[in-house]
Amino acid sequence: MIYSIVAYGDPVLKKKAQDIQPDYPELQKLIADMFETMYNANGVGLAAPQIGLSLRLFVVDGSPFDEEKLADFKKVFINARIVESSKETSTFNEGCLSIPDIREDVVRPERIRMQWLDEHLQPQEAEFDGIPARIIQHEYDHIEGMLFTDRLAAFKRTLLFRKLDNISKGLIKVDYKMKFPFRLKRR
Ligand code: NI
Repeated sequence: MIYSIVAYGDPVLKKKAQDIQPDYPELQKLIADMFETMYNANGVGLAAPQIGLSLRLFVVDGSPFDEEKLADFKKVFINARIVESSKETSTFNEGCLSIPDIREDVVRPERIRMQWLDEHLQPQEAEFDGIPARIIQHEYDHIEGMLFTDRLAAFKRTLLFRKLDNISKGLIKVDYKMKFPFRLKRR
């Protein structure tokens, strides 16, 4: 099932998400639906708040990046925590399925160490760098109630104000299903 992706301005994107409990109903179905929704929108990551669920769950698949080490970077992160971040940072041009048509350079730690549960609820721990670290940190922000635009300098955000406002009102063209928090009602 393909979900509508929640657009910029929806309060669910600003909320710190809750841990998933082991007895969460139909978790495998939800995970499969999130992958389907992500692929349908040509994304490389999707977090549960982006389909309106304030849960600590995100999925990633880096294979669209033409890099050998990303070929099998397809993962499910449940109740993830970043336990270490490197002092070294890197800059990468990011986009977000909830913020179509906006891409900006974002500075983030180059390496992170993560603890999480995989799709079988087995505990995992690993270090990531490069594009995987980038994708994970972007999605991790979503479950912390943060968007990449929150990481931009204030003057940049000011420049984007009208575009962001238009997105929240649905005044954009986008080729996947979205839910706009301030869509103007037709009379
Ligand atoms: Ni995003």
